[in-house]
Amino acid sequence: MTAPFTTPLSAPEYTMGANGHFIDLKDMPSEVLRHILDTAKVWKEARRGLPKGAVDEGAPLAGYALAMIFEKSSTRTRISFEMAMQQLGGKSLILQGDNMQLGRGETVADTAKVISRYVDAIMIRANEHALVQELADAGDVPVINALTDRSHPCQLMADMLTIEERFGSVEGRKVAWLGDGNNVATSLIEAAVRFNFPLTLGCPDAFAPPGDVLAWAKAEGGDITLTDDPQVAAKGAQVVITDTWVSMGDDTSGDRMETLAPFQVNDALMAQAATDAIFLHCLPAHRGEEVTASVIDGPQSLIWDQAENRLHAQKAILAWCLGAI
Ligand code: CP
Ligand code: NVA
Repeated sequence: MTAPFTTPLSAPEYTMGANGHFIDLKDMPSEVLRHILDTAKVWKEARRGLPKGAVDEGAPLAGYALAMIFEKSSTRTRISFEMAMQQLGGKSLILQGDNMQLGRGETVADTAKVISRYVDAIMIRANEHALVQELADAGDVPVINALTDRSHPCQLMADMLTIEERFGSVEGRKVAWLGDGNNVATSLIEAAVRFNFPLTLGCPDAFAPPGDVLAWAKAEGGDITLTDDPQVAAKGAQVVITDTWVSMGDDTSGDRMETLAPFQVNDALMAQAATDAIFLHCLPAHRGEEVTASVIDGPQSLIWDQAENRLHAQKAILAWCLGAI
């Protein structure tokens, strides 16, 4: 069975063709990110109601293969990338970093060169951000960052899609981040600059986002505010976002949880936001920690659409990396 596939949108002049990496939003021009997002919307609509395993009409990535390397756990990323390749008519294979020779000391550069001979693109979830860049520099195929200690750009493309489905356009929407200034927060800051929306981050000083991303955003003219007052951060926001207080690889010693406790997204905090505010969380969530069950399972939460949108956003990312849009 195939989906009634709409003709891909014409790519902007900038397009890098068949060797574009997708590593960080700050490295991508706004018009390319917009093109990817708009393609995701069209393709999502085109296959509405079809079985999840149906291949899209025209099978845009027929013949292409994606290797997925995981150094950390994953549910959404792993399944959505695998189904993305299937729906686009391509193939994917899953590799655990610690089962590869990479885990026994083979260099990243050698690994990149070898994998590039077998597949057309590499998706990697890595402990250290530098490894992703090294893989991209040494290999001959596009590399997609599927989360590192530093950033999570694929998540933010799904978040942008979710926000635009509700509000029409993310541009100018008031967005608030509460809690740990982690990898997702870093990509959110980059998204705020590239998609042009005001962002307020409510984080304790000890868990503020990296200084260099804030400096980059300021230099780019981004409308970014950092506060240690959660009420101020949430005030008037149309989108309230949080994430776990303990990311994979984080040190859990000390008073981390106590320090972050005032930044919990609960009913009182949501009452500070706009009346039509939505709540987003990349998941996995910890009810009773960064968010209460009343909020994440309540009427303002769009977490299931957000999780589904990983699939649609990544299909467009893959197609762009491989030069199909
Ligand atoms: N949001 C996200 O990346 O989820 P996984 O860790 O399950 O892939
Ligand atoms: N910040 C979280 C996101 C998980 C999808 C982590 O890095 O563990």
